[in-house]
Amino acid sequence: MSLRYFAGYSLLFLAHLLRKVFEQVWRVASLTEQFALIICTPSEIARYSRDVWNSWLFVRSYSSQGNWLSATEQGLIERYFSKNVALLNVACGAGREALLLARRGLRVTACDWSPRMVVEARRRAQEANLPVRFAVADLMYDLPFREQAFDCLLLTDLAYSCLFPRRRRVRFLRQAHAVLKPGGIFIISFSPARGNTRIPAGLMEWLFMRLRRWVPFNREYEPGDRFEHATFIHYFRSEELAQEFQEAQFLIKDWLWDEGYAVLAKL
Ligand SMILES: C[S@@+](CC[C@H](N)C(=O)[O-])C[C@H]1O[C@@H](n2cnc3c(N)ncnc32)[C@H](O)[C@@H]1O
Repeated sequence: MSLRYFAGYSLLFLAHLLRKVFEQVWRVASLTEQFALIICTPSEIARYSRDVWNSWLFVRSYSSQGNWLSATEQGLIERYFSKNVALLNVACGAGREALLLARRGLRVTACDWSPRMVVEARRRAQEANLPVRFAVADLMYDLPFREQAFDCLLLTDLAYSCLFPRRRRVRFLRQAHAVLKPGGIFIISFSPARGNTRIPAGLMEWLFMRLRRWVPFNREYEPGDRFEHATFIHYFRSEELAQEFQEAQFLIKDWLWDEGYAVLAKL
């Protein structure tokens, strides 16, 4: 073996070793941010999340996205929404799906809790000359729409998983049910726990479930709650999610678990 080969091989081995060490250090460092889940109350989590979604960084990133629908969204929309229906697009962000659906002839109302997202979505709709109505609304509080105002509802891109805790999600679903006409359809997106190898999270979940019994910890921490990609998100188990839908009197018409979508109907 030449000395040059030995030196080159050693450097590759060292780089590999360092990468492994840094990966482990990074993993441990990332764990510490999960503790926010057991320290903050649901209202504090909401406050933090709203600020993040309303930050220029997030607004710019969403408003720079073109008009597109994922294959799953496209399929579901074609199957369940007809033209000229009244649609409420909740958690609309900078208007990605709202604008596309208005262009297809649906009568779109869209809302989000981030005032900046709404300003951006409205600007894009005006630029494209599309008649979309917008509102700033927090899904965890009262929705500013009358009962039975819409034929269908749409919530994309995992946004149901942004709502904390369970009681607020069910409250939102009940309101969604109320603003839908009988026979109305709700296409809803969530983060499924399956496929994510870190869910359930083992030791941390076990620890948090014990801590939550005590003051001053977050009593409403739930297994599946996580801090990821700069914001809070809830990963669902399938029985848990189905139960929430049923509690709000929705009938589950379609269940695309791996894609993170479900289709709900109001009877
Ligand atoms: C992942 S983005 C999706 C945006 C848009 N639907 C899209 O696909 O481009 C999630 C959106 O949900 C909104 N959101 C999160 N929690 C919300 C809440 N409690 N009430 C209203 N909007 C909320 C955020 O402001 C953000 O615009």
